Amino acid sequence: MNRNQGLEKGDSLWTGCRLFMAEGDRGIVEDGAIAVKDGSIWWAGPASDLPKERVAPGGKVFRVGGKMVTPGLIDCHTHLIWAGSRAREFEMRLRGASYEEIARAGGGILNTVEAVRLATEDELYRQSARRVQSLLEEGVTTVEIKSGYGLATGAELKMLRVAKRLGNDFPVTVIPTFLGAHALPPEYTGRPDAYIDLVVEEMLPAVAAEGLAAAVDAFCERIAFSPAQVERVFSAARDLGFRVKLHAEQLSDQKGALMAARFDALSADHLEYLLRDGAEAMAEKDTVAVLLPGAFYFLREMKKPPVHLLRELGVPMALSTDCNPGSSPCTSPLLVMNMACVLFGLTPREALLGMTVHGARALGIQDRVGRLAAGKAADFVVWDVEEPVDLVYPMGGNPCSMVVRGGRVVVDRRNGVRSGRLQ
Ligand code: NIG
Ligand code: FE
Repeated sequence: MNRNQGLEKGDSLWTGCRLFMAEGDRGIVEDGAIAVKDGSIWWAGPASDLPKERVAPGGKVFRVGGKMVTPGLIDCHTHLIWAGSRAREFEMRLRGASYEEIARAGGGILNTVEAVRLATEDELYRQSARRVQSLLEEGVTTVEIKSGYGLATGAELKMLRVAKRLGNDFPVTVIPTFLGAHALPPEYTGRPDAYIDLVVEEMLPAVAAEGLAAAVDAFCERIAFSPAQVERVFSAARDLGFRVKLHAEQLSDQKGALMAARFDALSADHLEYLLRDGAEAMAEKDTVAVLLPGAFYFLREMKKPPVHLLRELGVPMALSTDCNPGSSPCTSPLLVMNMACVLFGLTPREALLGMTVHGARALGIQDRVGRLAAGKAADFVVWDVEEPVDLVYPMGGNPCSMVVRGGRVVVDRRNGVRSGRLQ
C-alpha cells in the first residue's frame, strides 16, 4: 500500500459514521470517516480531519447516515466444526445430569468425536459452513476454529483441512488451532500418558508439517488432562514454534492459567475458577482472559470468572461464542455480548472491546485486525444503532446493515446506507 498516493479510483470512502474506537473516553467519533485503499484502512477518524486534498474523484463513497461502525467482530474461541448433535444430552442435563457426569459416562465430547470420525470431510464442511455463515451475518470477519473432535491423527487433520476450506470459501479470516489434547479417546482409556505421547510424537509434527494450525490449545480439567500432561504438549508445541492457549479453570481450579502463563500463552479461556495467583501470572505475561458466557449459561454454572480482579490487574478480557455442540451451541456474538454484560457485569463498551481489539490479541493478530486504524485490514461492520449499549441490549434480532471485509462489502442488508461516486 502506498499511503502517500491518497485515495484513487477503485478505493472507497465511508462517511457519516459513528466510529467505535478502541481508545479515548467514550471512544465514539461522532462524525467519522474511513478511507479504504487496497483492502486496508488508509485513514480513519473525525471527518473534519480527513486529508481531502488526497481524495481523488471517481472512488466509491458510502454515506452511512450516522450509524455506528465497529471493527469486524473477532470470535476468538470456537469449536464450530462438528457432526451430529448433542440435543439428547441437553435433555439429560435438563433432567438434572451434569456436564461432568455425562462426560464420565462416555458421552460429552466423545459423543461428538464418534460422529466426527464417521463423517466425511465434505459432510463436516457442509454442517460447519452454515455456522460460519451465521457468524458472518452478525458481523464476524475473523473466527478461530479448533480441532479436537478427531482425537486421532487422521481425524484431527481432517478437521483442520475443513477449517482451511472454510477460510478459503467464505469472506472470513479463519485462524485454525490444534486441540488434540481435548479429551481422552476411548481406545486410550486408562492410558492418558500414552495418548499424550501420540499428540506430541505424531499429531503435532503432522499438523506443523502441513501448516494447518496457527496455535496449540488443550483442555486442562479433571475430566480432561492434568497440568503435567498439558505441559508436555506445550513444550513440544513450543519446540515446533507454536504459540499456546488453554481451556483453564472452567470447572475447577487446576492452576492451568498459571502454567499457561509460564509458556507465554496467548490466552487462557473460560476461567470461572481462576484465583489471584493465576490472574497475576496472566497480567505479567500479557495473557488474554477469554470469557465464554455462552458456556457458563448453557451449563448453568454458578461460579463467575473474577472480572473485578481481571480489571484491577489490567488483564485484557476477550469474549467469544465458544460455538460447540456440548457447552455452547451458539452462533450469535451479539447474544454473547448481552450475556457478558448481564451475567458477568461487563460494560457494553468492554463487551465490544472483547469481541474486537482483545479478541485480536487473544489470537496474536492485533497488528492486522481489531481496530479502526490506519494500516489495519478494512474489516468493519455498519450497525443500525448509535451506541454500544444499543447493540448489546436486545436478546435477538440482528441490526447488522453491512459487513465489509478487506474493503469489500460481503454482507449487504443496506438499511439506509447510500452509495455513489466521489465528485
Ligand atoms: O469450550 N471445555 C471444553 N471444550 C468445550 C466444550 C466441548 C464440548 O462439550 O463438545 C468448551 O466448553
Ligand atoms: Fe472451548
